Amino acid sequence: MINVENVTYMYPGQQREVLTAINLIIKSAEIVAVLGHNGSGKSTLAQLLNGLVVPLNGQVLVDDLNTRAESSIWQVRSKVGLILQNPDNQLVAHTVEDDVAFGPENLGVAAAEIKQRVSAALASVEMSDYLNWPPSRLSGGQKQRVAIAGILAMQPKYLVLDEATAMLDPKGRKELLNITLKLRSEGIGVVMITHHMSEAALADRVVVLYEGKIAAMGTPQEILSDVNQLRLYGLEAPPIQQVVFKLRQAGMDIPRTIMHASELVEALC
Ligand SMILES: Nc1ncnc2c1ncn2[C@@H]1O[C@H](COP(=O)(O)OP(=O)(O)OP(=O)(O)O)[C@@H](O)[C@H]1O
Ligand SMILES: [Mg+2]
Repeated sequence: MINVENVTYMYPGQQREVLTAINLIIKSAEIVAVLGHNGSGKSTLAQLLNGLVVPLNGQVLVDDLNTRAESSIWQVRSKVGLILQNPDNQLVAHTVEDDVAFGPENLGVAAAEIKQRVSAALASVEMSDYLNWPPSRLSGGQKQRVAIAGILAMQPKYLVLDEATAMLDPKGRKELLNITLKLRSEGIGVVMITHHMSEAALADRVVVLYEGKIAAMGTPQEILSDVNQLRLYGLEAPPIQQVVFKLRQAGMDIPRTIMHASELVEALC
């Protein structure tokens, strides 16, 4: 597991803590969604999880490896893959195959094994047909999937998606979410930072960051149905939760924790 223990962080030269007393555990085979207003500290948290930045106070342990220890930092980075928002910034090679091979090559994996890993990773994100394509000819969603394949080829245990769907069209977003669910079923722990509240509904747990602190943590049902509280954190509940909230305010006796349109239809009927 990734264990974030009482972590505080301040950027060098700054006076203000951007994260304060963060305690969080990420386990294998779970999806944890992280929500929060702009500047609440989500991307900083993402970088703390794979050791790109190290805590000012407290510690981050990745399968017991302290991200502060320089001797194990490459192990930490290959265990915790990070996918960023802009698909164009993440692919480095001239073909999809070379791009996915880049990570394991840097880890010193033998050539024959790299070939196997590349083909398994591309199969996993359903991009096997694009092996010889130049990344520049792929759609945004396909680029993100290739970037994920590049991480899978390093055999990570955790994947951190920092608004990885933000620049994708609805189809690309849906495909990426399906891949995320599949990776969870294969045992990977996923941290999904998102502005899309409906994506948080797919998670096992939801964490809300507000001004650098964990303001709320719970199941999607608990967190997303708390429409007024979310508003105080600068977030809008998904449409279904807002409708449920208004219907309940109007006196209808329906469960607060309805998550999907089909459940709402059933409750109303
Ligand atoms: N390199 C940096 N140096 C100084 N301050 C920074 C740096 N990066 C981020 N910050 C500040 O840290 C705070 C948290 O930023 P962070 O990027 O973690 O927020 P975020 O929740 O990811 O925001 P967004 O939703 O806009 O992506 C912000 O106030 C930001 O201005
Ligand atoms: Mg961010």
